This record gives sequence, C-alpha cells and structure tokens, in this order.
Amino acid sequence: MEKRIFVLAIFFVWPVAARAAAPMNFLAGDGEKAAPVVALMWGLLIISVVVVVIIGALVFVGVRPGRGQKPPEPGTRIAVARPAGGLNWIWIGVSISTFVLLISVGWTMAVLAKVNAPQNAAAPFIIEVTGRQWWWEVRYINPNSSRTFTTANEIHIPTGVPVKFRLLGGDVIHSFWVPKLTGKTDTIPGQTNTLWLDARDPGLYRGQCAEYCGAQHAHMSILVVAQKPAQFAAWWNRQLQDATSPATPALAGRDDFVMHCGNCHAVRGTDAAGVYGPDLSHLASRQMIAANSFPNTPGYLSGWISDPQAMKPENLMPKLELSGAELTQIRTYLETLK
Ligand code: CUA
Repeated sequence: MEKRIFVLAIFFVWPVAARAAAPMNFLAGDGEKAAPVVALMWGLLIISVVVVVIIGALVFVGVRPGRGQKPPEPGTRIAVARPAGGLNWIWIGVSISTFVLLISVGWTMAVLAKVNAPQNAAAPFIIEVTGRQWWWEVRYINPNSSRTFTTANEIHIPTGVPVKFRLLGGDVIHSFWVPKLTGKTDTIPGQTNTLWLDARDPGLYRGQCAEYCGAQHAHMSILVVAQKPAQFAAWWNRQLQDATSPATPALAGRDDFVMHCGNCHAVRGTDAAGVYGPDLSHLASRQMIAANSFPNTPGYLSGWISDPQAMKPENLMPKLELSGAELTQIRTYLETLK
C-alpha cells in the first residue's frame, strides 16, 4: 500500500512540484511567439516516440526466430534467404519516413516564419540587447532620443505588445534564451539578429545564455518582467530620470562611487559615465545583481562590491581595495538608486 502511494506521488505530485520550481520550463509557453514553438516541440517529440516504438517493434519481430524454426547451432552458417516481396519493406519504409520528415520540415519552416514575422513593423517597439561576458546590456530604443536609455540584465516588457529585440554581440558569441517566451537566438559579434517576444500574461520569465561563452556562462541569466502596459509605462518613465541626489548620509558614498567605480559603471546624473560594466542608474530597482546571479540585498551587494572575484570568478570587475567605511558608504549610496 505504502509502495503504491509512493508511486502515485512520483507520477502526480512530482511533475506538479517540478513545474512550479522550474522557471526555465520550456514544455509550456506564454504568448504568441511561444505557442507555435511549444506545439512544434511536443509534435516532434510525439512523432519521435512513435517512430522509436514502431522501429523497436519491427526489430523485435525481425530477430525473433520464425515459428517451427529451431535456433541454429552455434558456429553453423545460415543460408541467406530472400523471401519474395522483401523489397516492399524498403519502399514502404522509405515512403513513410520521407512523408513524416517532409511534414516535420514543413511544420518547422511554418513555425520559424510565424515567430519571425514582423509585427507592427512600421513602428516596432525595439529593445537592443548586447551579450557581454557575462551580463546583458539592454537599451530601450525610441524614435524620440530623450526616451532612449540603457540598463542591464532585467528587461521589462509590456504584455500584449510584440517587442522586437535587436541582438548584438559584444565580445564572444552568446545566445539569448527566455524559454517560456520563445526559442533561442545567438548574439554574434559583427552581426545583428532579430527576435520577437510577445508575453501574454504579466509575470517574471527567467532566461539564460544558451551558448557556452566562458567561465561564467552559467551565471549569465536574464530576467524578463512582463507588466501591464500602464505599469510598464510608469517603470519606463522612472528609468528615464536621472538618479535622484541622495540625502546627506549617502553623499559621501556617491563621491566614493564616482572615484572608484565611475570608470567602468555609469549612473546618469553623476560624473560616473563608464561603459565597460552594467549601467547602474537604477540599480536598487532591480531584483538581482551580477546578471541575476544573486538577490539584490545589502548582504549580497556588500559581498559583491568587496570581492566580486569570489562570487563570480574571472568576471571583469576587479577586486578593489576599499576600507570598511568606503564599502558601507558605496553600498548605502547604491541602495538609494531606486
Ligand atoms: Cu554568454 Cu554563455
């Protein structure tokens, strides 16, 4: 009885629990650009399973000794028999395989055409994403240049609006993949690739670099935050603003930040204007740090500022020799960047 309950638990409870804890689950999708890919994936999976079952059954029947036929003595030779009509197996087999393969190819092409079809092509909503070792630079592009800004790693999009992603390669080849929203597309140096996303429901969608790109490939995550258009507009307007001048206690932190970090990082509205690392203008509004590798909490932030090489070895941010007071001041300042 207990055993049966255990088996039941494995079959019914485990998949539900696994789904809940699997933000990268690609067996279910969300949005117009995901549905065709998910359907194709399931279709091809079912076709493959059916083919394996049929081939397995045929092999089993084929190697079984015929009725009334004794298994040969070891070491004896068996004359090759050519029963009449044997070639039909070949013709029928090749025809069926060709037919199934043609359907798969046609279906794949149709899905590719559907997910790549330009929508609202006249005035698309464009986000430019550059893959870098090991983080994502994100630029919101707008014909009105005062509404263009740069951020990193956390990508907000409005629901129900097809968003055109322009994917650029910053150093080596990376691959942009948010499995619940659509398939993978590489970011390749010297080339601009295009990808469309269209989230149906508000929520968080985890993504991941899907092309090996060096030591911290596994810590090059993406967080897509899909919001209702009104909330998204509010977020965008907030991001466009410069960092507010901090209250007096954090002012010393701002000066420390500009001096120690400003060559690589930018915070709009200050003298920090570096372009080598992620733009930190509204860092405190982001949920995670270090390309979504750690929660954006005071503890992790302090750990990261004091020794980024311990938390994410080989990343380009050097370990700075900061005094305890400087570390606290810089962290306190960064926490004001809402
Ligand atoms: Cu970037 Cu893997």
